[in-house]
Amino acid sequence: MIGIIGAMQIEIDGLRAMLDTPTSCTISGIEYTSGSLHGVDVVMAVCGIGKVFAAICAQTMMLSYPVEAVINTGVAGTLSPNIGIQDIAIASDLVQHDMDTSAIGDPPGLLSGINVIHLPCQPKLVSLAEEIAAELGFHTETGTIASGDQFVHTDGEKERIRTAFGGIAAEMEGGSIAQVCYVNQVPCVVIRAISDDASGNSPADYSQFAAKAAERSIQLVSQLVRRY
Ligand code: ADE
Repeated sequence: MIGIIGAMQIEIDGLRAMLDTPTSCTISGIEYTSGSLHGVDVVMAVCGIGKVFAAICAQTMMLSYPVEAVINTGVAGTLSPNIGIQDIAIASDLVQHDMDTSAIGDPPGLLSGINVIHLPCQPKLVSLAEEIAAELGFHTETGTIASGDQFVHTDGEKERIRTAFGGIAAEMEGGSIAQVCYVNQVPCVVIRAISDDASGNSPADYSQFAAKAAERSIQLVSQLVRRY
């Protein structure tokens, strides 16, 4: 079974509408809907915004369903000159850009305990996502996606994240889902369509482009499930 997580309704509703024989169950306020997507068993959920909700959702999903891989779909702000609004960021790995124990000698972003900064995605899922995106005519970049509990909206913050981690896109859940996958040894991939420039225009861009971007990510994820 493949698990699919989005932070917001617009990131999941389009996929939920494609499900055959949907069955739902709510745990800790998050609704999990399982069923068949293109003949493949899936479970999907809207986790809510931010790293804590995302972790609650990913861990609960794994404990409640036989999840063999997790896909996180949604939107992000671009940190890269190579991808703009409606293009697709595919994570090779994720970081938590707001994890910072550097004052006591650790490198920024280090996840103490597991001693990792960059949480990997499964290479097979990454290359399949790249292949499908190319077939759909989507422009993509693959690289580090940076997650943190903030909507990035200034050049300074954008530059900090790009310089410290080499991030190509900023969002608020992927790095948390990837950490849950890492400790449970479950493969994952994070696919994000760009809704804004993570800079001064980002609040206005976001309200104009997020719904359309979320749909593009859904289009890609739907085919990814079919071909997994
Ligand atoms: N999701 C979409 N745009 C974002 C941004 N600029 N910062 C954080 N998360 C986002």
